[in-house]
Amino acid sequence: MGNSTICKVKIYFAALYRRLAKKRLSSARTEDIEGLIEHTNKTSRFFGIIARTLGMEEDIINRAQNAVLLHDIGKLANNEIFALTIAPRKLTEKELMIVRQHAQKSLTMLSEEGINFIDPGLEKMILYHHDPEGLVNDPYLKNRLIWRKLTEILIVSDYISAAYDTSRAYHNGYRLKKSVLITLQELAQQWGTTIGGDIYAILGEILIDGRNPAFLTIRGSLKTILDTIGNRELTPQQIIPAQNITLFSA
Ligand SMILES: [Fe+2]
Ligand SMILES: [Fe+2]
Repeated sequence: MGNSTICKVKIYFAALYRRLAKKRLSSARTEDIEGLIEHTNKTSRFFGIIARTLGMEEDIINRAQNAVLLHDIGKLANNEIFALTIAPRKLTEKELMIVRQHAQKSLTMLSEEGINFIDPGLEKMILYHHDPEGLVNDPYLKNRLIWRKLTEILIVSDYISAAYDTSRAYHNGYRLKKSVLITLQELAQQWGTTIGGDIYAILGEILIDGRNPAFLTIRGSLKTILDTIGNRELTPQQIIPAQNITLFSA
């Protein structure tokens, strides 16, 4: 799939987000909807970088990247869920339970729109992106490690993407470095060893290492992303201090 095809898919899906927001939410600020679209674009780019570094097949990566663009469409399910996703504070346990329903809602809403995934693995990826227990116990994924791995990559990309969004509610006011560090701590806390050590290691390479020539492209991509997000001139080494790498020896 060429770049222009991916671009068209992005535009088409962005339009879908806008249309569903109009249809299902009584009042939502345009900038919040655009922020959500931007989040899914960023998540999809991070997803591609990590999956390619792991050496996965290009065809699968492309299909999965398109599905990743749709992973949070369920946030537009209703006013209550959407309001919680942009609440300017940490959520209570009860609120988190409500907000996490958006993963299932994404699938329901997509199917209502006539968008169905050819491979059930793509659905599983979206379904479990906030549900460690579901991911571990799903019998379909037991013998299909590729989809399990892709789900893990989505989870990590989702966290990292959110971390770079320093305007995000409770990260407001943090410098990028702190935002990334805190988000990675949350990732380790919530998902721990459910995410494979290989993915943590790659994340470390992307964010910290920089000495391995194999990751020059990654560093380039990361810089591009950083530049796109806020014209920041940070190098990967500056993002989090090296001693924090012990977080990821999962
Ligand atoms: Fe989500
Ligand atoms: Fe997300």
